[in-house]
Amino acid sequence: MGRRRQLYEGKAKILFEGPEPGTLVQYFKDDASAGNGAKKGVITGKGVLNNRISEHLMLRLHEIGIPTHFIRRLNMREQLIREVEIIPLEVVIRNVAAGSLSKRLGIKEGTRLPHPIVEFYYKNDSLNDPMVSEEHITAFGWACAHDLEDIVSLSMRINDFLCGLFVGIGITLVDFKLEFGRLWENDNMRIVLADEISPDNCRLWDSKTSQKLDKDRFRQDMGKVEEAYQEVAMRLGILPEAT
Ligand code: C5P
Repeated sequence: MGRRRQLYEGKAKILFEGPEPGTLVQYFKDDASAGNGAKKGVITGKGVLNNRISEHLMLRLHEIGIPTHFIRRLNMREQLIREVEIIPLEVVIRNVAAGSLSKRLGIKEGTRLPHPIVEFYYKNDSLNDPMVSEEHITAFGWACAHDLEDIVSLSMRINDFLCGLFVGIGITLVDFKLEFGRLWENDNMRIVLADEISPDNCRLWDSKTSQKLDKDRFRQDMGKVEEAYQEVAMRLGILPEAT
């Protein structure tokens, strides 16, 4: 593929103009950041693994009828996606207490929650992605009540499915973050899953040992970060390729 116009560069990905109208190319970098950019580093080979892991999970979700922005993987670090209007929310789904939930509410890390909990954060780096309620979201027009209903029901279906998929490979899906977008087709709008699903935005613990197999290893300087991402890819049956 020749040179393409770069549209956006984020902390872990770059978006380029796609080959056809309505498409984009999503490029996965090895760059890692935590604490809204306070900590920066490189996880060698992360981009290649996340591209494969996200492809795999988006395809499995597509098979059970979850609409996603994913079209196809193009190469080691790039995938073709549909251009969507990103809803400025980070939707976090939690099954087990960890991270900011444990910190904020004093719930011991590792406590299984009585039911999955959905939280919304307003995607805004300069405000540090503050937590918001459904009332904030509808009042400030980030999404209407109908969009939110779709977002919550899709999030719950995604959580149910991914919990089962990970249990099958000896991994507990502790929590994860999703992003959604609006896809316009002939005057019809659908809410679709966007962004990526990878160890960058999921907490994944080995079911037996509770060993962390995700970005917390980078956030907490635990070492063996690449190895953890590789382990997830291997258990998902995605053959590791040369990076
Ligand atoms: O830090 P916190 O406990 O709120 O994170 C919940 C989940 O959301 C974790 O899986 C984390 O990886 C993900 N997350 C993310 N991007 C953010 C904040 C959280 O992917 N900006």
